[in-house]
Formats: sequence, C-alpha cells, structure tokens
Amino acid sequence: MGSRRGRRPVAENILLLGGTAEARGLAELLVGEGVPLVTSLAGDVVQLRLPPGQVRVGGFGGAGGLARYLRENSVTAVVDATHPFAERITAHAATACATSGVPVLRLSRPSWAERPDATTWHWVGSIAEARTVARTLGERVFLAIGRQSLPEFADWTELPVLARVVDAPAFEVPPNWEVLRARGPFTLDAELDLLRSHAIDVVLTKDSGGPTGAKLDAAAELGVPVVIQRRPALPAGVPVVAAVAEAAAWVRALGE
Ligand SMILES: NC(=O)c1ccc[n+]([C@@H]2O[C@H](COP(=O)([O-])OP(=O)(O)OC[C@H]3O[C@@H](n4cnc5c(N)ncnc54)[C@H](OP(=O)(O)O)[C@@H]3O)[C@@H](O)[C@H]2O)c1
Repeated sequence: MGSRRGRRPVAENILLLGGTAEARGLAELLVGEGVPLVTSLAGDVVQLRLPPGQVRVGGFGGAGGLARYLRENSVTAVVDATHPFAERITAHAATACATSGVPVLRLSRPSWAERPDATTWHWVGSIAEARTVARTLGERVFLAIGRQSLPEFADWTELPVLARVVDAPAFEVPPNWEVLRARGPFTLDAELDLLRSHAIDVVLTKDSGGPTGAKLDAAAELGVPVVIQRRPALPAGVPVVAAVAEAAAWVRALGE
C-alpha cells in the first residue's frame, strides 16, 4: 500500500456512500493509498466501527441535495456501496450523478440467487407478499430481514415470531415475539441449533447476500421453507461491481 502513496495522481475527490462492510473495506484500501475520500453514513443505525478517513453523517435531502453536495464539495466520482436494499439512496445517487455529470459506480455484494438451493426458495417482490406467502407455509417464523422491515410485521401478534437484528427494533415488539440481537456471520451449527430450538417452520429473509448465508444452509438441511425478498432493481445506466477490489480498480482508473 505505502509504495503506491505519492506515486499515483490523486486528482479524484471520492464520495463513498457507505453503511456496509464493503464500504468500510473500500475505504480502508483507498485511504491507505492516499485517495481523498469521504464516507457518507445515513446515521440512523448504531455504527460500531467507523471507516478510516473522513466521515460525514446524515441524509443529503434527496437527489437535489446530493447534487448540491457534489457541486459544493467538488466531488469527482461517487461509489455507492450502500446495502443492496438501500433503494432510495441508490436511486438518488444515480439521478444526482447523471444531472451533475459525475461518474458513479454501484458496489453491491453478490446475491444469494446463484446458490444451488435458491431455486427451492419462495421468491417474493415485497414484504407484503413475503407475509402472505410465509403464512401459507408455516406458523413459527424466523424473521431475518433487518431492522428496517420489522415494523411491517408488527401486527403479527398471535404467532410465535423469532426476529434477529443487530440493533434493537425502533418500536415496541408484540409480547409473542422473541428478539435476538446478534451480529453475523453465524456458523451452520449455531443456525441449526437456533432453528431447531425454536421449532422454526419457515424462514423469512431478503437477498442481502454476504456472510450470513448459514441460515439458508440450515434451512436446507432441516427442510424448512425459505421465503426471500428479491433485490430492488438497479438504476439503469450505472455500472455495477460485486467486489471491493473491482471498485478500488474503478477508482484508480479514474486518475489514469
Ligand atoms: N436496508 C438495509 O437492509 C440496510 C442494511 C444494512 C445497512 N444499511 C445501511 O443503512 C443506511 C440506510 O439504509 P436504508 O435502507 O434506510 O436506505 P434508503 O431507504 O435507501 O435511504 C433512506 C434515506 O437515508 C439517507 N441515506 C441512506 N444512506 C445514506 C448514506 N450512506 N449517506 C447519507 N444518507 C444516506 C438518504 O436521505 P436523503 O434523501 O436525505 O439524502 C436516503 O434517502 C444505508 O446507508 C445502508 O447502506 C441498510
């Protein structure tokens, strides 16, 4: 890393939209190479580890606000490394960059759709559909869908629900729910144990990808059906990469 410092032209001024492990990994790489970079975080989630380099926190005020930020801060390129389900900021980044003439790259971790067992899952397009399908499949639900989507299940007050989240839900969960606060990745043995000990008969999750796929292995092993929410579509015309190294290469190529 150090050998690169001072050798390459660093004319870029990168805005990295973060909130994911991939964004942090990219910041570690690029800051280590001396690339001027600001990581932007939404700020609504407890952030345990801040990335290296400059950090700003909070929304921009829509696509217009983001375009203004790009202009006022002379941003020369944007890497959108937000979560695959962070649909709004991704759309705003695409619009703001298009109107500002600033190149943008989407870094989105690989989907689970390529797994061999993915064809056995019940793919749905929305939380509303996930709710309906899950109720036809089982009665003891494991909700592994992230904190943001949990309120959409708040009226499930009669089912035994096991909800796993990193940060505490922002609403008072019904008394029949058990909330498990844990940060992955999880081992297959731990996931098998969890599903068995709670007699889970349906897993409801979303195609986040990343290192928390052991729950899907456990479901496959136990024959528990999986309801999984498809990723939102990506904005047209924005190049996409799945690996931190590819995003770093895109940034380096900007200065060539
Ligand atoms: N959705 C998930 O399952 C999930 C999981 C893990 C981490 N995260 C992270 O948590 C953040 C919020 O997720 P979300 O699903 O609520 O996103 P979202 O629905 O796409 O964004 C909602 C609003 O939050 C602001 N925002 C989001 N990400 C931002 C960022 N990196 N920097 C500055 N402002 C940001 C934007 O406000 P303005 O319109 O005012 O600019 C955006 O319109 C994201 O950064 C994402 O990477 C999300």
